[in-house]
Amino acid sequence: MPKQVHLAAHFPGVNNTTVWSDPRAGSHIEFDSFVKLAQTAERAKFDFFFLAEGLRLREQGVQIYDLDVVGRPDTFTVLAALAAVTTHLGLAGTINSTFNEPYEVARQFASLDHLSDGRAAWNVVTSWDAFTGENFRRGGFLAEGDRYTRATQFLATAAELFDSWPADAVVADKTSGVFLRDGSVGGFQHTDQHFDIAGRFNVPRSPQGRPVILQAGDSDGGREFAAATADAIFSRHGTLVEGQKFYEDVKRRLPAYGRTRDSLKVLPAATFILGDTDADAQEKAAVVRRQQVSGATAIKLLEQLWNRDLSGYDPDGPLPEIDPDVSDSHIAKGRASVRMHRDPIATANEWRARAEAEKLSIRDLIVEVTNRQTFIGAPATVATEINDLVQQDAADGFILVPHVTPDGLDEFADTVVPLLQERGVFRTEYSGPTLRDHLGLEVPA
Ligand SMILES: Cc1cc2nc3c(=O)[nH]c(=O)nc-3n(C[C@H](O)[C@H](O)[C@H](O)COP(=O)(O)O)c2cc1C
Repeated sequence: MPKQVHLAAHFPGVNNTTVWSDPRAGSHIEFDSFVKLAQTAERAKFDFFFLAEGLRLREQGVQIYDLDVVGRPDTFTVLAALAAVTTHLGLAGTINSTFNEPYEVARQFASLDHLSDGRAAWNVVTSWDAFTGENFRRGGFLAEGDRYTRATQFLATAAELFDSWPADAVVADKTSGVFLRDGSVGGFQHTDQHFDIAGRFNVPRSPQGRPVILQAGDSDGGREFAAATADAIFSRHGTLVEGQKFYEDVKRRLPAYGRTRDSLKVLPAATFILGDTDADAQEKAAVVRRQQVSGATAIKLLEQLWNRDLSGYDPDGPLPEIDPDVSDSHIAKGRASVRMHRDPIATANEWRARAEAEKLSIRDLIVEVTNRQTFIGAPATVATEINDLVQQDAADGFILVPHVTPDGLDEFADTVVPLLQERGVFRTEYSGPTLRDHLGLEVPA
């Protein structure tokens, strides 16, 4: 039996993968857009719909960075509304464990799981930066090194709350007048380094017992956290060699927690560009890359590495000769990519050498170094690539990120999904009502 492919739909994000200026692009705020993408994903029998979430708008040069989409409605509100217009699709929300509290988050996920009849998933993220923390009047209260200690304790606390009501707690017997089987349900008492809470949880046990847990951190600590607690990982390693390396790295951590290889799904993010032929798709991909990196975007992304105002530079001209400013005062705030440039001067030297060797302008270079297009080709090519990556243990499936909202998944649903179904590696019908059913996961005892 070949492995089954898992697929999820990422609502296009707040980065330059999303081309909001495309003539076909619609709203990123109106509910109709969320409904359209979710219903397309459900029609195509996807496992789940995925919402990323940032808790602070990005800024660059003390202005909101608005070359990409800015401003999104709240995750729980959107997912709860989607629960009413879908029937099987999983609903995954990204909720931060640094700036929230377990009692509130557990209530929200247990409620979403009830409203959706067992389709809730929680992508536990740990962004800890002081810039985001200002929104919560907490500033930088958590050191980077403590982000997974808090996340682990947060999740353990939430699990106690989810488990605090037995499934048969509510009797509601009209004849006898008995509502609860036992008036002591929901009690909890939890004390650790980050939380000291006691009381009663007030949401009865939900259909999945606990929401499906996703994890998206990439560091060693993040991978260990995933191995200990997650049902699926949202990774950024979607190519064969990198994917296999990551896949093996996280799966080999599972036995230490008494877990089987199947109990943790690895789902890299992936973009796609389809065409009538492979050549046609390549042509389209080149056009989309230029849409994703306008001249203005190229300069802004360059500024993030250089940590300097480069607005005077011509995006069609050469890279700056001046070196990056390596002092602390970052020109860009609230961006993961800023933290990813660990050695800006070395990276700048590499970029300059590459631009000179390949005769690339600033914009050409940024198009190359920020390239995140995963699958490019005719539907049959893309179906083969996806299936090969899954069968060769580079992934268990993919979280697909269309570049246009909300119609960007239609072509994939209509052309690639039927090919995966023909090959017997993707469901033609849902086998059960809950997201745990789709992912082949047990309900926690
Ligand atoms: C593919 C991917 C998607 C992520 N999406 C989000 C997100 O939507 N919101 C967020 O606050 N952090 C997001 N993160 C950040 C991580 O959850 C995590 O907080 C961050 O990567 C720091 O952890 P690390 O050092 O283990 O990587 C994402 C990370 C990855 C790899």
